[in-house]
Amino acid sequence: MKARLVLMVVVLTCLFAFAGTISGPYLSRNDVRLKIPNGFPLPDYTFKSNKTEPEIFMIGRKLFYDPILSKDSSVSCESCHQRYAAFAHIDHSLSHGVDSKIGTRNVPSLQNLIWKKTFMWDGGVNNLEVQPLNPITNPAEMGETLPNVINKLKASSEYRRMFKKAYGDTLINSERLLKSLAQFTGLLISASSRYDKYVAGKDTFSSQEKSGLELFRKKCSGCHREPLFTDNSYRDNGLMPDTTLNDKGRGKVTGLVNDDYKFQVPGLRNIELTFPYMHDGRFKKLKDVLNHYAEKAKGNTELAQIGPLSEKDKKDIIAFLLTLTDRDLINDRRFANPAFIK
Ligand code: HEC
Ligand code: HEC
Repeated sequence: MKARLVLMVVVLTCLFAFAGTISGPYLSRNDVRLKIPNGFPLPDYTFKSNKTEPEIFMIGRKLFYDPILSKDSSVSCESCHQRYAAFAHIDHSLSHGVDSKIGTRNVPSLQNLIWKKTFMWDGGVNNLEVQPLNPITNPAEMGETLPNVINKLKASSEYRRMFKKAYGDTLINSERLLKSLAQFTGLLISASSRYDKYVAGKDTFSSQEKSGLELFRKKCSGCHREPLFTDNSYRDNGLMPDTTLNDKGRGKVTGLVNDDYKFQVPGLRNIELTFPYMHDGRFKKLKDVLNHYAEKAKGNTELAQIGPLSEKDKKDIIAFLLTLTDRDLINDRRFANPAFIK
């Protein structure tokens, strides 16, 4: 009896120790290797000049969750890009930054970024590595300067230790900061939804979901192209401009009148989790989005492919959109706040 008890304790201790190593905050090279999902195109950002390493990725991950990047240590990247919302900001139509300042746009989800050549709703940024300069220095987001951030990191023994481990020396500069963040954001890949499994023949769809996919392919995929659910173009999908924000979108970046009020076609993965919708978060529910398309498709040449949408069509399309939720990404411990993974 006693021997069995001792054996049980030994087995349990081993199990806990093992669980500790696989779930712990330390990652292996394999954990941070880029694996291009089946059926996905070659990415635009390849990590060629920013080779992924567990220690560098971990710096990026810590920075992402650290309010040290903001001027008063009140806002981190994660304040706006929440993990359980596929790194969008749930239930906030416009972004919220330091000093309770409200931004002018809805926070997009962060996923499959390495397949994008341009970022932001208007494509105003064209490099994943320099992208964080924008939120760090934007007065309505983090309101900080890069030199200040570098000085704060240099003053932190924890960051000095992490940089030493990653690079062999304690040099902390903007290049290392930005590259580490790009390793974290670039590896946020969503390719494990029920839709992906269905396409790979590993899951089944209900008849409603099947009908939704068929309708989607006919009516929506001209802009929301599979498998990323965007063709990375800028379009006007018929939204009435908000007169207070008067956001000209792409037109502001290119200066072309023809681009006014065009916005980046968002990828629709994890759409269930990333409400509210559109560049200004004007729609709370997917039903509102479908009602918009049903209404605006009439007489709009850009939206001609949509055609009439019956109540059943709308429901079927929504049922299909819900198959794009990817719990594997949301629950992936590699992307969790390192302060909470023990
Ligand atoms: C105050 C809220 C806020 C904070 C803090 C914030 N972001 Fe964002 N982020 C946004 C908004 C809003 C946009 C869209 C901006 C636009 O279109 O003009 C965005 C866009 C992005 C994009 C482009 C996504 C795409 O698909 O085009 C990336 C990448 C990103 N943020 C990463 C980060 C990182 C990394 C940090 C931390 C250094 C960060 N963000 C901090 C609100 C925030
Ligand atoms: C002409 C191109 C085009 C077509 C066709 C189109 N969309 Fe869109 N879609 C867009 C653009 C552009 C946006 C972003 C608009 C904005 O925010 O100003 C968008 C936004 C969305 C959003 C909100 C995404 C988010 O993250 O906020 C959803 C959901 C959506 N579309 C679903 C659909 C469905 C379903 C169909 C088919 C019935 C469809 N779209 C057809 C271009 C298109």
